[in-house]
Amino acid sequence: MPILKDGQDTLTLGDILAPMTEAEFFQDYYDKKPLHIPGSADKFKGIMDWSILNELLSNGPLWSAKSLGLQIDKQPIPAALYCESREDRSGSMVMQPIAGKVMDLLHQGASLIANDIDMMSKPLRQVASAFEAAYNGKAQANLYCSWDSRKAFSSHFDTHDVFALHIEGEKTWRVFETRMPHPIRHARHSNGAYTEAQHMEQRGELLFDVVLKPGDILYLPRGQYHDALAVSSGAVHIALGIVSLVGLDIVDALKDFAVEDEAFRLNLPRLAQGETATRSVLEDLGNKLHQLSKNPNVLAALLQYQASYSYDRSQYTLPIESTDKQFNLVDGPFRLVKDKGTFVLTGPRGAVPVPPGSEGPISWILSQKRFRRGAFLSAHERLPAAAADRLLSDLQSMGVLKSA
Ligand SMILES: [Fe+2]
Repeated sequence: MPILKDGQDTLTLGDILAPMTEAEFFQDYYDKKPLHIPGSADKFKGIMDWSILNELLSNGPLWSAKSLGLQIDKQPIPAALYCESREDRSGSMVMQPIAGKVMDLLHQGASLIANDIDMMSKPLRQVASAFEAAYNGKAQANLYCSWDSRKAFSSHFDTHDVFALHIEGEKTWRVFETRMPHPIRHARHSNGAYTEAQHMEQRGELLFDVVLKPGDILYLPRGQYHDALAVSSGAVHIALGIVSLVGLDIVDALKDFAVEDEAFRLNLPRLAQGETATRSVLEDLGNKLHQLSKNPNVLAALLQYQASYSYDRSQYTLPIESTDKQFNLVDGPFRLVKDKGTFVLTGPRGAVPVPPGSEGPISWILSQKRFRRGAFLSAHERLPAAAADRLLSDLQSMGVLKSA
């Protein structure tokens, strides 16, 4: 079953991982161990396939040598071999891939890596948003396309959780025993901190290997050693990487408050004043940081930062209505019910979860037979107009509302 359903605007992590539930994933696998979820071949229908990929790649000005990379035998191919210097949409000169040259190199066995594709279509934005909402993290998607028995990468670990969504062909993934202790993008804690020989040495024994087929998902917690080898000609997967906030982000939050205390802005003692003077400052500031860690404003700021820690994926909702549009409620019955703490809108076509905060506006809509947009906006003054229009348009595409 495809996870993208007609008229459904929001995807959840549960939709993507099904039949596994989001709760099971966070309970048993998240940040614990790798997971393979086999899926039906049409699971990612509408999200990615050869024709969607061709369409994306053919949009020349979207790409540069940085966002579209080619590799052969684990080595990057120099941009000059597949790009030409062209003016981009901001007027800067960039190396832009030329389809004919890229295709020639792919024929010779090169692998293609299309970076940052998570904003490039509505379905891709929906997938990325589902991961961001569940993780409170930033999701980024790269696409890998490789050919028979060619390895684009040697054994490595990533500094964020990875979900490989398998799209076309087949690829064998090898997952190794070693899981590096929570690596991050830091010179001493990322892949680049080790030589190839060290990676081979420390990846450990093979934990398992698995042939991913279209519709399959492989979850790798941050730090788990792995590699992948295309076993069919033309294997495509999307790697969803999710960066979560870590303990060091608390240090940054504390720093943001500490700067207001003059003690943190004073010069440190000169070395001539002796070690004791510096030790005393260290102790004093350490205590102040400890006090700050108990300050409820710091906690509130941190929670707010985490709640908004995702990429902006807001969408355009043109046209802008020049008149006060009228909406009619379609014959239901539609009902807003609470199911295990979340609100669900049920109707003749099934049930959809209601985004938190929308239950009030939705129950107002259900209580009306017909209403004008202006009346809806004035009844919900705290709802921004863009969010209100999005909700109205979502309800229209779900068949709850019709514009008169
Ligand atoms: Fe990786």
